[in-house]
Amino acid sequence: MSEKRDFLTLMDYTGEELNELLNMADQLKYEQKNAMEHPRLKGKTLGMIFRQHSTRTRVSFEAGMYQLGGLAMFLSARDLQMERGEPVQDTARVLSGYLDGLMVRTDCHEDAVTLAEYAAVPVINGMTDYAHPCQALGDLMTIREYKRTFKGKKLCYIGPGNNVANSLIVGTLKVGMEVSAACPKGYAPAGEVLQWAAGAGSFTLTEDPETAILDADVVCAGVWDASFQKIPEETRKKVFPNYQVNGILIGKAKPDAIVLHSLPAHRGEEITEEMFEAHAGEIFQEAENRLHGQKAILLKLLGEG
Ligand code: CP
Repeated sequence: MSEKRDFLTLMDYTGEELNELLNMADQLKYEQKNAMEHPRLKGKTLGMIFRQHSTRTRVSFEAGMYQLGGLAMFLSARDLQMERGEPVQDTARVLSGYLDGLMVRTDCHEDAVTLAEYAAVPVINGMTDYAHPCQALGDLMTIREYKRTFKGKKLCYIGPGNNVANSLIVGTLKVGMEVSAACPKGYAPAGEVLQWAAGAGSFTLTEDPETAILDADVVCAGVWDASFQKIPEETRKKVFPNYQVNGILIGKAKPDAIVLHSLPAHRGEEITEEMFEAHAGEIFQEAENRLHGQKAILLKLLGEG
């Protein structure tokens, strides 16, 4: 029997594996759009532990498991004994006896790692304070749909270096894109991501959004106030506005640049209303692709591999 795989960070996957997941996601999207049933996880169950709010992650995993012929169970952390002190290690071992897979959203990445260590079933990161690999996979799928290839394409992330940035930088570099990030002073992506990125291809980090965005094919607007980062009011008012994706800044990217946003969006903060609506096509396609990308992950981890 092969060893179980988890999906905690994109660091654990090769560029080739990411491309395989994207190919599977494209196939699953085609089948869904053409009303072709694909119950490849018939009889399988996924437990979804949520410690934070969610619209996209919860609904797309639940719908995805249903479309694959399986069952997804929403488990609010608030209602689990875990919240009253039952160790993550014990929760992992108990749930492994009932379920075929686990998805977790938590503000403590270490808890997700512990869950995966003790669970006998695959664990998928549905967002932690450190990483959001499912979001990055949906982003990669959207980039490939719009740009056809990753080769020779440049992605620019603008905003604080948060969990979304950590995963996006790793994912885009792994598939061979050129990557730049413009982050405010004191809000760089995680140190280990930067250390890895330095030797992983073409990556630049700057505090200057105008430099970072030059000739970008894809621009990603990073939210200023991800639930895990508490930004002081003074910084939000004085520093962060320089990192707003607006018409002037986008004018320095390639004319056919697409704009991505992980959502929920805060119009007038990380992106203007005008830019959000001008690029709503890409942004909502990106949100939809969460479904297809996650179904590919579920098939790889819970299916035949
Ligand atoms: N982008 C994202 O993860 O959305 P939710 O918080 O709604 O799941």
